[in-house]
Amino acid sequence: MTLAEVLHLLACPHCGRQLAWSQDHRSVGCATGHFFDVARQGYLNLLGSRQPRNADTTAMVAARHRFLSAGHYAPIAARLGALAPCTGSAPALLDVGTGTGYYLAAMLEMITGSRGIGVDVSVAACRRASQAHPRLGAVVADVWQQLPVGDAQLDVVTSVFAPRNAAEFSRVLKPTGRLLVVHPQPRHLAELREPLGLLGIEDAKAERLDQALAGRFDLDHTETVEFESSWDAAALSDLVWMGPNAFHLDDAEVEPSLLRLRLPLTVTVVVTLSGWRPRRP
Ligand SMILES: C[S@@+](CC[C@H](N)C(=O)[O-])C[C@H]1O[C@@H](n2cnc3c(N)ncnc32)[C@H](O)[C@@H]1O
Ligand SMILES: [Zn+2]
Repeated sequence: MTLAEVLHLLACPHCGRQLAWSQDHRSVGCATGHFFDVARQGYLNLLGSRQPRNADTTAMVAARHRFLSAGHYAPIAARLGALAPCTGSAPALLDVGTGTGYYLAAMLEMITGSRGIGVDVSVAACRRASQAHPRLGAVVADVWQQLPVGDAQLDVVTSVFAPRNAAEFSRVLKPTGRLLVVHPQPRHLAELREPLGLLGIEDAKAERLDQALAGRFDLDHTETVEFESSWDAAALSDLVWMGPNAFHLDDAEVEPSLLRLRLPLTVTVVVTLSGWRPRRP
Protein backbone atom coordinates (compact mmCIF):
# COMPACT_ATOMS: atom_id res chain seq x y z
CA MET A 1 0.00 0.00 0.00
CA THR A 2 1.65 3.22 -1.18
CA LEU A 3 0.19 5.41 1.57
CA ALA A 4 2.51 3.63 4.01
CA GLU A 5 5.47 5.46 2.45
CA VAL A 6 4.22 8.89 3.51
CA LEU A 7 1.92 8.31 6.46
CA HIS A 8 4.47 9.53 9.04
CA LEU A 9 4.49 12.92 7.24
CA LEU A 10 0.72 13.36 7.38
CA ALA A 11 -1.10 15.40 10.01
CA CYS A 12 -4.73 15.18 11.11
CA PRO A 13 -6.78 17.92 9.41
CA HIS A 14 -8.74 18.51 12.65
CA CYS A 15 -6.04 18.65 15.35
CA GLY A 16 -2.70 18.56 13.49
CA ARG A 17 -1.42 15.45 15.30
CA GLN A 18 0.41 12.77 13.35
CA LEU A 19 -1.64 10.10 11.58
CA ALA A 20 -1.01 6.37 12.00
CA TRP A 21 -2.66 3.14 10.85
CA SER A 22 -5.60 1.76 12.77
CA GLN A 23 -5.28 -1.89 13.77
CA ASP A 24 -7.07 -3.28 10.72
CA HIS A 25 -5.04 -1.09 8.30
CA ARG A 26 -8.27 0.07 6.64
CA SER A 27 -8.21 3.53 8.16
CA VAL A 28 -5.79 5.98 9.71
CA GLY A 29 -6.25 8.05 12.84
CA CYS A 30 -4.61 10.45 15.26
CA ALA A 31 -4.06 10.17 19.03
CA THR A 32 -7.07 12.47 19.64
CA GLY A 33 -9.40 9.89 18.06
CA HIS A 34 -10.12 11.32 14.59
CA PHE A 35 -10.32 8.54 12.00
CA PHE A 36 -10.32 8.53 8.19
CA ASP A 37 -11.05 5.61 5.90
CA VAL A 38 -8.46 4.60 3.34
CA ALA A 39 -10.12 3.93 -0.04
CA ARG A 40 -9.89 0.50 -1.60
CA GLN A 41 -7.61 1.96 -4.29
CA GLY A 42 -5.21 3.17 -1.58
CA TYR A 43 -5.77 6.94 -1.46
CA LEU A 44 -6.79 8.83 1.67
CA ASN A 45 -9.63 11.34 1.70
CA LEU A 46 -8.99 14.12 4.25
CA LEU A 47 -11.21 16.72 2.57
CA GLY A 48 -14.05 16.53 5.06
CA SER A 49 -16.54 18.09 2.62
CA ARG A 50 -17.77 17.57 -0.91
CA GLN A 51 -15.17 18.32 -3.56
CA PRO A 52 -15.58 21.77 -5.15
CA ARG A 53 -16.94 22.19 -8.66
CA ASN A 54 -13.52 23.00 -10.15
CA ALA A 55 -12.10 19.60 -9.08
CA ASP A 56 -11.09 17.60 -12.14
CA THR A 57 -13.71 15.07 -13.22
CA THR A 58 -13.17 11.38 -14.05
CA ALA A 59 -13.28 12.17 -17.80
CA MET A 60 -10.72 14.98 -17.42
CA VAL A 61 -8.40 12.74 -15.43
CA ALA A 62 -8.69 9.97 -18.04
CA ALA A 63 -7.84 12.44 -20.83
CA ARG A 64 -4.89 13.77 -18.80
CA HIS A 65 -3.63 10.25 -18.17
CA ARG A 66 -3.74 9.34 -21.89
CA PHE A 67 -2.06 12.60 -22.90
CA LEU A 68 0.74 12.59 -20.30
CA SER A 69 1.52 8.89 -20.45
CA ALA A 70 2.12 9.28 -24.21
CA GLY A 71 5.12 11.45 -23.16
CA HIS A 72 3.86 14.70 -24.72
CA TYR A 73 5.04 16.78 -21.72
CA ALA A 74 8.03 14.60 -20.77
CA PRO A 75 10.57 17.45 -21.13
CA ILE A 76 8.78 19.31 -18.30
CA ALA A 77 8.95 16.26 -16.03
CA ALA A 78 12.65 15.83 -16.81
CA ARG A 79 13.47 19.41 -15.83
CA LEU A 80 11.47 19.14 -12.60
CA GLY A 81 13.41 16.02 -11.61
CA ALA A 82 16.71 17.72 -12.39
CA LEU A 83 15.90 20.75 -10.21
CA ALA A 84 14.49 18.91 -7.20
CA PRO A 85 17.16 18.84 -4.48
CA CYS A 86 17.95 15.23 -3.61
CA THR A 87 20.17 15.44 -0.56
CA GLY A 88 19.48 13.33 2.52
CA SER A 89 18.60 9.66 2.69
CA ALA A 90 14.87 9.75 1.87
CA PRO A 91 13.81 13.09 0.40
CA ALA A 92 10.13 13.88 0.97
CA LEU A 93 8.17 15.49 -1.88
CA LEU A 94 4.70 17.00 -2.06
CA ASP A 95 2.98 17.73 -5.37
CA VAL A 96 -0.06 19.97 -5.03
CA GLY A 97 -2.88 19.67 -7.55
CA THR A 98 -1.13 16.47 -8.59
CA GLY A 99 -3.77 15.32 -11.08
CA THR A 100 -2.76 11.85 -12.28
CA GLY A 101 0.49 12.04 -10.27
CA TYR A 102 2.49 12.03 -13.51
CA TYR A 103 5.09 14.65 -12.56
CA LEU A 104 5.47 13.40 -9.00
CA ALA A 105 5.96 9.82 -10.22
CA ALA A 106 8.61 11.02 -12.69
CA MET A 107 10.47 12.84 -9.89
CA LEU A 108 10.25 9.84 -7.55
CA GLU A 109 11.72 7.69 -10.28
CA MET A 110 14.62 10.11 -10.76
CA ILE A 111 15.42 10.60 -7.05
CA THR A 112 16.62 7.42 -5.37
CA GLY A 113 14.87 6.60 -2.09
CA SER A 114 12.47 9.54 -2.28
CA ARG A 115 8.78 9.35 -1.41
CA GLY A 116 5.99 11.70 -2.30
CA ILE A 117 2.57 12.92 -1.31
CA GLY A 118 0.23 13.80 -4.15
CA VAL A 119 -2.52 16.15 -3.00
CA ASP A 120 -5.55 16.93 -5.13
CA VAL A 121 -9.05 18.13 -4.34
CA SER A 122 -10.41 15.71 -6.94
CA VAL A 123 -11.24 12.16 -5.86
CA ALA A 124 -10.90 10.95 -9.47
CA ALA A 125 -7.40 12.43 -9.63
CA CYS A 126 -6.30 10.80 -6.36
CA ARG A 127 -7.72 7.47 -7.44
CA ARG A 128 -5.48 7.61 -10.50
CA ALA A 129 -2.46 9.14 -8.67
CA SER A 130 -2.52 6.37 -6.07
CA GLN A 131 -1.55 3.96 -8.87
CA ALA A 132 1.15 6.19 -10.37
CA HIS A 133 4.20 5.05 -8.37
CA PRO A 134 4.99 2.62 -5.52
CA ARG A 135 6.45 5.44 -3.40
CA LEU A 136 3.54 7.87 -3.96
CA GLY A 137 0.72 8.33 -1.44
CA ALA A 138 -2.35 10.20 -2.75
CA VAL A 139 -4.43 12.41 -0.45
CA VAL A 140 -7.66 14.25 -1.26
CA ALA A 141 -7.32 17.71 0.31
CA ASP A 142 -7.82 21.37 -0.56
CA VAL A 143 -4.69 23.45 -1.08
CA TRP A 144 -6.55 26.54 0.17
CA GLN A 145 -7.03 24.97 3.57
CA GLN A 146 -4.31 23.81 5.95
CA LEU A 147 -2.33 21.10 4.15
CA PRO A 148 -2.45 17.77 6.01
CA VAL A 149 1.31 17.72 6.58
CA GLY A 150 3.37 18.54 9.69
CA ASP A 151 5.57 21.65 9.90
CA ALA A 152 8.99 21.64 8.15
CA GLN A 153 8.70 18.04 6.92
CA LEU A 154 9.36 18.34 3.21
CA ASP A 155 12.36 18.71 0.92
CA VAL A 156 10.41 19.64 -2.19
CA VAL A 157 6.98 21.08 -2.91
CA THR A 158 5.81 21.25 -6.53
CA SER A 159 2.86 22.96 -8.16
CA VAL A 160 2.49 22.18 -11.86
CA PHE A 161 -0.33 24.04 -13.64
CA ALA A 162 -1.98 24.00 -10.21
CA PRO A 163 -2.96 26.36 -7.36
CA ARG A 164 -0.34 27.72 -4.93
CA ASN A 165 -0.76 28.54 -1.26
CA ALA A 166 2.42 30.40 -0.26
CA ALA A 167 1.75 30.37 3.49
CA GLU A 168 1.14 26.63 3.60
CA PHE A 169 4.01 25.79 1.26
CA SER A 170 6.43 27.70 3.50
CA ARG A 171 5.04 26.01 6.65
CA VAL A 172 5.49 22.43 5.37
CA LEU A 173 8.91 22.92 3.71
CA LYS A 174 12.15 22.38 5.61
CA PRO A 175 14.25 25.57 5.79
CA THR A 176 16.60 23.88 3.28
CA GLY A 177 13.71 22.81 1.02
CA ARG A 178 12.70 24.07 -2.40
CA LEU A 179 9.46 25.03 -4.07
CA LEU A 180 9.20 24.34 -7.82
CA VAL A 181 6.42 25.96 -9.83
CA VAL A 182 5.44 25.37 -13.44
CA HIS A 183 3.09 27.80 -15.13
CA PRO A 184 2.25 28.47 -18.78
CA GLN A 185 3.53 31.50 -20.69
CA PRO A 186 1.18 33.50 -22.94
CA ARG A 187 2.61 31.74 -26.05
CA HIS A 188 1.87 28.27 -24.60
CA LEU A 189 -0.20 26.27 -27.15
CA ALA A 190 -0.76 29.48 -29.15
CA GLU A 191 -1.38 27.50 -32.38
CA LEU A 192 -4.42 25.92 -30.74
CA ARG A 193 -5.97 28.75 -28.82
CA GLU A 194 -7.61 30.67 -31.64
CA PRO A 195 -8.81 27.79 -33.83
CA LEU A 196 -10.32 25.96 -30.87
CA GLY A 197 -11.38 28.97 -28.80
CA LEU A 198 -9.35 27.85 -25.78
CA LEU A 199 -8.99 29.96 -22.66
CA GLY A 200 -6.23 32.58 -22.94
CA ILE A 201 -3.27 33.06 -20.61
CA GLU A 202 -3.00 36.53 -19.14
CA ASP A 203 0.32 38.37 -19.33
CA ALA A 204 -0.09 39.57 -15.76
CA LYS A 205 -0.46 36.06 -14.34
CA ALA A 206 3.28 35.48 -13.92
CA GLU A 207 3.62 38.77 -12.09
CA ARG A 208 0.80 37.86 -9.72
CA LEU A 209 2.44 34.50 -9.03
CA ASP A 210 5.75 36.16 -8.15
CA GLN A 211 3.99 38.64 -5.87
CA ALA A 212 2.06 35.91 -4.06
CA LEU A 213 5.22 33.93 -3.30
CA ALA A 214 7.65 36.81 -2.78
CA GLY A 215 6.75 37.54 0.86
CA ARG A 216 7.69 34.04 1.98
CA PHE A 217 10.11 32.78 -0.67
CA ASP A 218 13.17 33.99 -2.58
CA LEU A 219 13.32 33.19 -6.27
CA ASP A 220 16.55 31.27 -6.93
CA HIS A 221 15.98 29.87 -10.40
CA THR A 222 13.86 30.56 -13.43
CA GLU A 223 13.92 28.94 -16.85
CA THR A 224 11.73 28.58 -19.89
CA VAL A 225 10.97 25.06 -21.02
CA GLU A 226 10.03 25.34 -24.69
CA PHE A 227 9.60 22.66 -27.32
CA GLU A 228 7.52 21.89 -30.39
CA SER A 229 5.50 18.75 -30.74
CA SER A 230 3.30 17.30 -33.49
CA TRP A 231 0.01 15.99 -32.22
CA ASP A 232 -2.74 13.99 -33.88
CA ALA A 233 -6.48 14.47 -33.35
CA ALA A 234 -6.62 12.13 -30.34
CA ALA A 235 -3.80 13.92 -28.52
CA LEU A 236 -5.30 17.34 -29.29
CA SER A 237 -8.70 16.28 -28.09
CA ASP A 238 -7.23 14.93 -24.83
CA LEU A 239 -5.28 18.15 -24.37
CA VAL A 240 -8.45 20.22 -24.65
CA TRP A 241 -10.57 18.06 -22.35
CA MET A 242 -7.97 17.39 -19.65
CA GLY A 243 -7.77 21.02 -18.49
CA PRO A 244 -9.94 23.93 -17.40
CA ASN A 245 -11.33 24.25 -20.95
CA ALA A 246 -13.49 21.26 -20.08
CA PHE A 247 -15.46 23.55 -17.74
CA HIS A 248 -15.97 26.27 -20.39
CA LEU A 249 -16.20 24.68 -23.84
CA ASP A 250 -18.82 22.64 -25.56
CA ASP A 251 -18.04 19.34 -27.29
CA ALA A 252 -20.23 20.28 -30.21
CA GLU A 253 -18.11 23.40 -30.88
CA VAL A 254 -14.64 21.97 -30.33
CA GLU A 255 -14.75 18.62 -32.11
CA PRO A 256 -15.68 20.09 -35.58
CA SER A 257 -12.94 22.72 -35.15
CA LEU A 258 -10.47 19.94 -34.40
CA LEU A 259 -11.43 18.18 -37.62
CA ARG A 260 -10.79 21.39 -39.62
CA LEU A 261 -7.15 21.56 -38.43
CA ARG A 262 -4.40 20.29 -40.68
CA LEU A 263 -3.17 17.24 -38.77
CA PRO A 264 -0.83 16.39 -37.22
CA LEU A 265 -0.55 19.93 -35.86
CA THR A 266 2.77 21.29 -34.64
CA VAL A 267 2.18 22.99 -31.32
CA THR A 268 4.60 25.00 -29.17
CA VAL A 269 4.76 24.23 -25.48
CA VAL A 270 6.14 27.19 -23.49
CA VAL A 271 6.18 27.16 -19.72
CA THR A 272 8.15 28.83 -16.96
CA LEU A 273 9.73 26.63 -14.33
CA SER A 274 10.74 28.59 -11.25
CA GLY A 275 12.58 27.51 -8.11
CA TRP A 276 12.03 29.18 -4.74
CA ARG A 277 13.74 28.92 -1.35
CA PRO A 278 11.85 29.57 1.87
CA ARG A 279 12.78 33.00 3.22
CA ARG A 280 14.53 32.87 6.56
CA PRO A 281 12.61 34.68 9.30
C1 LIG B 1 -4.60 21.82 -14.62
S1 LIG B 1 -4.66 20.45 -13.51
C2 LIG B 1 -2.93 20.00 -13.32
C3 LIG B 1 -2.72 18.60 -12.81
C4 LIG B 1 -1.25 18.13 -12.75
N1 LIG B 1 -0.44 18.98 -11.92
C5 LIG B 1 -0.69 18.07 -14.15
O1 LIG B 1 -0.10 19.06 -14.58
O2 LIG B 1 -0.85 17.04 -14.81
C6 LIG B 1 -5.03 21.23 -11.95
C7 LIG B 1 -5.23 20.24 -10.82
O3 LIG B 1 -5.43 20.98 -9.59
C8 LIG B 1 -6.49 20.40 -8.88
N2 LIG B 1 -7.05 21.43 -7.98
C9 LIG B 1 -7.85 22.47 -8.31
N3 LIG B 1 -8.16 23.19 -7.20
C10 LIG B 1 -7.52 22.57 -6.16
C11 LIG B 1 -7.47 22.82 -4.76
N4 LIG B 1 -8.12 23.86 -4.23
N5 LIG B 1 -6.75 22.00 -3.97
C12 LIG B 1 -6.07 20.92 -4.52
N6 LIG B 1 -6.09 20.63 -5.85
C13 LIG B 1 -6.81 21.44 -6.66
C14 LIG B 1 -7.46 19.90 -9.95
O4 LIG B 1 -8.35 18.90 -9.47
C15 LIG B 1 -6.47 19.39 -11.00
O5 LIG B 1 -6.15 18.02 -10.80
ZN1 LIG C 1 -6.97 14.63 15.05
